[in-house]
Amino acid sequence: MRRYVAAVARRVRPLLRRRPPAAPPLSAATIDLRAPEIVGDPFPHYEALRREGSVLFLPRHDYWIVLGHEAARAAFSRPEHFSNAPYRDIDAVLLAADPPEQTAMRRTVAKLFSPAVTARLEETASRLADALVRPELDVVSDYGIPVSRGVTADLLGLDAAGVEEIVAAEIRSMGTADPLADFITSLDAMAHRSSMFDALIDAQVPEESARSLVRLMWLAGTTTTQRVISRAILRMIEDERDQQALRADPALVRPFVEEVLRLHPPEHMVPRVARADVELDGVMIPAGAEIRLCVSAANRDPAQFDQADRLRLDRGNSRHFAFGSGAHACIGAQIGRATVNIAVATLLRRSSALRSIRPLDEIRYFATETALSPESLQVGL
Ligand code: HEM
Repeated sequence: MRRYVAAVARRVRPLLRRRPPAAPPLSAATIDLRAPEIVGDPFPHYEALRREGSVLFLPRHDYWIVLGHEAARAAFSRPEHFSNAPYRDIDAVLLAADPPEQTAMRRTVAKLFSPAVTARLEETASRLADALVRPELDVVSDYGIPVSRGVTADLLGLDAAGVEEIVAAEIRSMGTADPLADFITSLDAMAHRSSMFDALIDAQVPEESARSLVRLMWLAGTTTTQRVISRAILRMIEDERDQQALRADPALVRPFVEEVLRLHPPEHMVPRVARADVELDGVMIPAGAEIRLCVSAANRDPAQFDQADRLRLDRGNSRHFAFGSGAHACIGAQIGRATVNIAVATLLRRSSALRSIRPLDEIRYFATETALSPESLQVGL
């Protein structure tokens, strides 16, 4: 027996010696949310940060991060203190504008999102999703991307040639020094080919503003929806029991998608800038400071959601911020939500058991400070 214990001890000792020294806990003072080991799974880090405070300054980023659900809700509802100006390069007319100017423009744009338009886009989403299903497919490139682009193109009134040109322009711009600025220039040059552009001109919107709004719709509607579709399908593959529950009762697709939106918003954070010295949840933020409302953290705040990290089909609390909140709450939320629901329901209906063709731990992600989304996900039906 003694010899056995000694042999085990001989084997275990080097293992113990090899254990790396415990990493110092990352705090608001030290954390870098761009670090590769964080972008792959930022959620435990948000949780650790939230324990320090719901509103924190991150010196390595030179911005304030808002992690608590209540603090995020307060910031979303106070555009007079928290301005959307950081979005000015994307669109200065609606998204980066603050009330009262934004309010008037939003009223005009909202008329283009009538129930009749939403119903038409739902049909488009169903038709596209159904036509794209194959026995094996990449749910990112062969499904989520074409469905999201097709629905947004229909909203904008763009024909197939127009969409092809946009896609080609996006690929071209990737090789330039400033891909987003280059792509925006291309989108602006094409905007007048969209029937939404004509509708905006008819509604007395100046031409430059109409161009800006058309490009905003493309940028806001495509990648967001695609990422949620891909993530929803991945979650169904990761959790066999959820997949079976959804097959048994398709009415559960809606709460499932809501949970996917809560747990995996396509953008972790939305930017704001302090218009004056402002107080948020007891913390003073100086005028001009940059702020990130971290919806991915707020959506998992245990003060708002029980078992916040778990996907629960019976949650019944959808007060998440995947679509933002307040004056700038997503104007395409109904369309985005419906598109994801249809894409998920269609794939379930057309398959008997969804599975990943590659081991799940080989999936590559687009992982940055603000997003975490599969780049490719090959599935069999
Ligand atoms: C699942 C899909 C989508 C998600 C998760 C999403 C998310 C968001 C979020 C978080 C905001 C607020 C940004 C902020 O407050 O800083 C927003 C705004 C906006 N979204 Fe969406 N979006 C989605 C789909 C769409 C679609 C399909 C469209 C239309 C084509 C769209 C158009 C817009 C526009 C125009 C705004 C700006 C509204 C304003 O500033 O008043 N979105 N979206």
